[in-house]
Amino acid sequence: MRILNLKQTESFPLDSNLSLHRPTWVEINHKNLKENFFQLSRLVSPKVSILSVVKANGYGHGLVPVAKSLSECGSSFFGVTSLEEALTLKEAHLNAPILILGNIFPNSSLEPAIKNGIRITVASIESARACEEMAIKCGLRALVHAKLDTGMNRIGVNIKNGLDFIQKILEHPSLKLEGIYTHFSGSAEDPKFTKFQIETFTNFISLLSQKKIYAPYVHCANSAALIKYPESRFSLVRPGISLYGINPFQGEKKLKLKKVLSWKSRIVFLKEAPAKTRISYLGTFVTKRASKIATAAFGYADGYRRSLSNKGVVLVNGKRVPVIGRVTMDMTMLDVTECPKVHVGDEVVLIGEQGKETISVEEMAELCQTSAYEIFCNIAARVARVDLV
Ligand SMILES: Cc1ncc(COP(=O)(O)O)c(C=O)c1O
Repeated sequence: MRILNLKQTESFPLDSNLSLHRPTWVEINHKNLKENFFQLSRLVSPKVSILSVVKANGYGHGLVPVAKSLSECGSSFFGVTSLEEALTLKEAHLNAPILILGNIFPNSSLEPAIKNGIRITVASIESARACEEMAIKCGLRALVHAKLDTGMNRIGVNIKNGLDFIQKILEHPSLKLEGIYTHFSGSAEDPKFTKFQIETFTNFISLLSQKKIYAPYVHCANSAALIKYPESRFSLVRPGISLYGINPFQGEKKLKLKKVLSWKSRIVFLKEAPAKTRISYLGTFVTKRASKIATAAFGYADGYRRSLSNKGVVLVNGKRVPVIGRVTMDMTMLDVTECPKVHVGDEVVLIGEQGKETISVEEMAELCQTSAYEIFCNIAARVARVDLV
């Protein structure tokens, strides 16, 4: 469910204003999203284009509303996972070029991609050939970006064979080589290997220019590389996670990226429990004292990890409150004994701010031993997205 264009000043509670029948939702702050785009764009020269990575439903933030906001800021390209996402952007009248970052499969998907002018990643000689054949069949020229592998070993042609690959693409008259790119294996955590990948790619681009081979867009920088390695910026950069307010270098002071997503729910049931009360499946939590226990309307089917059972922390009435017992599919129990004025209907913050307290996605990710990327992408489709503009 998507609720659009709510003014940030509008009075809360949001869910009762918006008749949410299940009070678990995320709020997307589009002002902050735009501010992040502007901050990142100030790092690069005006000649460098920005491809906003909006794949995986805009990292869980919502593909179309996110792309619309970024388009208003001047994002000149979008990066998606699949043909479906690319066509969804087209249907929403987003006119900036769209690049599918994955290897297209099956080949039948090439036809709608070519007919809609969607940019195709060619990651092997075979995929370039299949694209050429389909372009001939359509009577059109396919716009392609050649993917070279400099050490990620996911998709792409090993850069050692890159020249031959690029020359083969250029031999196909129905392919227009619009871009050449690679992807880092650890630009936030592994400076040595990142520098090696940048150098390998830079040398390759120099070799191409010696042969008078040029492409309008040469790109490799994801968020971390864009922020830390100016030499990785070439003619286009591809930020994703930083747009959504996550600085891969925590503690880095130059950028003040703003959080875009807050995740909220409500208390739907309250009870007093004497000491020694078992809570939730298998009684993995037993009260040590007379306690006040709240049940809130979120669970693992919303994307709240079951591994947060007896570990997670949420905000209620401006206080940090522990998750107790097993997280269940749709409901989770909280020990609110220390919250004197708690009521059924009170807001629970899973990610975001309440009063003076904050729970960041990074804090949740650390507790789950995962990344902010995975937490965002796993917020379930049934969780309503509310756009604050
Ligand atoms: C090919 C490619 N480019 C760019 C990005 C954006 O990376 P980040 O979110 O770290 O900025 C991704 C994300 O996984 C990607 O797969």
